[in-house]
Amino acid sequence: MVVNVDNPIFKKLGMKYPIVEGGMTWAGTGALAAAISEAGGLGFIGTGYWHGEDVRREIKRVKSLTDKPFGVNVMLLSRHIREVFDVIIEEGVKVVATGAGDPSPFLDELHAAGIIVMPVVPSVSLAKMMEKKGVDAVIAEGMESGGHIGMLTTMALVPQVVDAVDIPVIAAGGIGDGRGVAAAFMLGAAGAQMGTRFLTATESEIHPNFKAKILKAKDIDTIVTGNLLGNRARVLKNKMAKNFVKNEVNELQKEKPDAAAIEKLESGTLRCAVQEGDKEGGAFMAGQISGLIKDEKPAADILSDIWTQATGVMGIENKTLS
Ligand SMILES: Cc1cc2nc3c(=O)[nH]c(=O)nc-3n(C[C@H](O)[C@H](O)[C@H](O)COP(=O)(O)O)c2cc1C
Repeated sequence: MVVNVDNPIFKKLGMKYPIVEGGMTWAGTGALAAAISEAGGLGFIGTGYWHGEDVRREIKRVKSLTDKPFGVNVMLLSRHIREVFDVIIEEGVKVVATGAGDPSPFLDELHAAGIIVMPVVPSVSLAKMMEKKGVDAVIAEGMESGGHIGMLTTMALVPQVVDAVDIPVIAAGGIGDGRGVAAAFMLGAAGAQMGTRFLTATESEIHPNFKAKILKAKDIDTIVTGNLLGNRARVLKNKMAKNFVKNEVNELQKEKPDAAAIEKLESGTLRCAVQEGDKEGGAFMAGQISGLIKDEKPAADILSDIWTQATGVMGIENKTLS
């Protein structure tokens, strides 16, 4: 098999490695995004439910640290989405990734501003719908991932999405080393997205307790909250996660289960983990691949080590895309 690691989008952006940072609410700060982009990957600012001016602050931070292109990940359910897109366009951001919804109402204006749009998709049907609406690529994310997840595994989802669409597919979920990146290409993807691996980059600004928890984690140390009633999210096990699941089970016994009450249990918990390192009350969102991650090192080393291993596994020359 001849592996094709070319991706027209990555080429256009001048990236060295076909590796993207998954947008991460609170954890995906400008400093981390800048380090990843500067090293030749594609860094992303995670914006969650921020106001436009918070997004502008992090964009300016990236710009102060690198001249390389970077992306902004937006949550379409955010009440502030209009102002966030205004800031993204004003600041000349090159790439937008979208989670939690359909970006098509904004597509024309983003394209008019020259912005590449890549929604995260958990299923074939959504990938096909996104392609029809005119997005530039899709990020097919499996349920091994940290953060909010769908139902399918990366191994099952990616080849099915690849077969269903003609636009580039970036694989996400459970990728933490060069073997994972090579596997993504074997499944037909045109790039790999990682979240959890970058959380332990030296430039990652998450609380030391969060980094330590990932570095200590074993393969079975994540749990999915919101499985029964809420918004499914993969987190490292702790008191908060176990209580959440217990409360969910209890709520389900009631005659009229209150899904909103269950979702409220999650409110603010990711920020608590990322910024305060609250070991008991925080939601330490991280993927199943946590068990593989044993070191903290600069983003540049993560990228070059992974690409060396990936090209070795794929049996292709160890050279960068540009
Ligand atoms: C702490 C954390 C926060 C995340 N927040 C978001 C987000 O705001 N938007 C989004 O599209 N994906 C989010 N994700 C998913 C990542 O972008 C990425 O797809 C995922 O981490 C890939 O799987 P991996 O963790 O196995 O590498 C988050 C993941 C983590 C670990």
